[in-house]
Amino acid sequence: MNVTVIGSGYVGLVVGACLAETGNRVVCADVDADKVEALNRGQVPIYEPGLDRLIERNSAEGRLQFTTDVGSAVRHGRVIFIAVGTPPGEDGSADLQHVLNVAETIGKNLSEGTVVITKSTVPVGTAIKVRAEIERHTDAGFHVCSNPEFLKEGDALDDFMRPDRIVCGIESDEPRSILQELYEPFVRSGNPLIFMDIASAELTKYAANAMLATRISFMNQLASLCEAAGADVALVRKGIGTDPRIGRSFLYAGAGYGGSCFPKDVRALIRTGDDFNVDLGILRQVHTANEEQKKLLGRKAKSRFGEDLSGLQFAIWGLAFKPETDDMREAPALSLIESILASGGAVTVHDPVAADVARDFHLGDRVEYAADEYEACEAADALFVVTEWLQYRRPDWLRIRGLMRQPVVFDGRNLFEPSRMRGLGYEYYPIGREQVR
Ligand SMILES: NC(=O)c1ccc[n+]([C@@H]2O[C@H](COP(=O)([O-])OP(=O)(O)OC[C@H]3O[C@@H](n4cnc5c(N)ncnc54)[C@H](O)[C@@H]3O)[C@@H](O)[C@H]2O)c1
Repeated sequence: MNVTVIGSGYVGLVVGACLAETGNRVVCADVDADKVEALNRGQVPIYEPGLDRLIERNSAEGRLQFTTDVGSAVRHGRVIFIAVGTPPGEDGSADLQHVLNVAETIGKNLSEGTVVITKSTVPVGTAIKVRAEIERHTDAGFHVCSNPEFLKEGDALDDFMRPDRIVCGIESDEPRSILQELYEPFVRSGNPLIFMDIASAELTKYAANAMLATRISFMNQLASLCEAAGADVALVRKGIGTDPRIGRSFLYAGAGYGGSCFPKDVRALIRTGDDFNVDLGILRQVHTANEEQKKLLGRKAKSRFGEDLSGLQFAIWGLAFKPETDDMREAPALSLIESILASGGAVTVHDPVAADVARDFHLGDRVEYAADEYEACEAADALFVVTEWLQYRRPDWLRIRGLMRQPVVFDGRNLFEPSRMRGLGYEYYPIGREQVR
């Protein structure tokens, strides 16, 4: 099938590469000329495990192309995916300007019978706006569908190739068979392709992210209670996670959720509730709790070292909002680093893949960038573990003690056992567990 994917970011590239892998002829379009040029040179502009090899193979075999000519890409596709960003507007609502720009270009270049699929995360009612925008520019008949994406950065290829479910919002039966044909290779193991009305599909994506964010904020607040009451949140998590009604996933207390999805999607859903006069009070609390949680490591540092951090040196392990990605959008590490710098502290960071993104887009030369996690600890008064990369899980603590000025560790991901850290001679501050002073 001829497939067009508009927007070649974390989602668009994965969708394009995976659909090419199953034999479709895919054109990916993006307005970012540097990005497209890099892709045409064989360079993948984001870090996502396995994506570079998939893109290389499918490009070499002629099934995957990249272009800045969005109009010609639209003319190629029997099916067109809109996968552009929907960043938060000032009031927290999803900013639809990119989606509607694309709809305009689609309208100006549309062939009869094309299926236009919104992959971007968009508020309920967006498909109606997309249809109206396209219709302003064409008399051709077409279908609009909502097909939200549930991939997780860091595991995106597996999520797309072996999805738990695929949700398709359709307004008539005609595009159903096209979607079935497109997705059949990915649901052979029996996981469902769920068809529903468009409004429900649009809302499903926000409901999923809001539920997961809620679990995280719930555990983070419980962690504060555990810390105050002398309980251990890791044990509480085990105690409740074995209940099948609750389940084990997304019950880890930490330094707060970040990334390009949870923070913006929770806020956008609150705004959607406001638009319909429905107060999603639970989600307001989820959001507020997370904003507070992102300040927690900084607060712990100040209660240990005082408000003025000048003359002190801090090591940060992990910049990306989670492991196996270089995505730093709304990463908790950024809140922590800004708070240390604002209080006069000096910072040396390490991240296996996100350092370039940090330098180019977020931190510049306001921090030092270490070549490895040990170099980051040289002369440090404290180490903060912010992202749970595998390589941070079993460090050489004896070596690190020799490198640091003071053996103090703030663990934003609860990677280590307090009793072991005590035995190794560290002050150790995890979240919701025994604080080793
Ligand atoms: N990143 C994720 O993990 C994830 C997961 C599920 C859903 N989503 C949703 O998918 C959407 C895309 O997210 P992303 O992380 O891939 O974003 P991204 O910022 O990585 O990529 C978006 C791309 O769209 C391009 N673009 C913007 N306007 C354009 C236009 N008019 N024409 C062509 N290209 C244009 C940008 O240049 C950029 O390359 C968002 O709505 C997001 O909420 C993201």
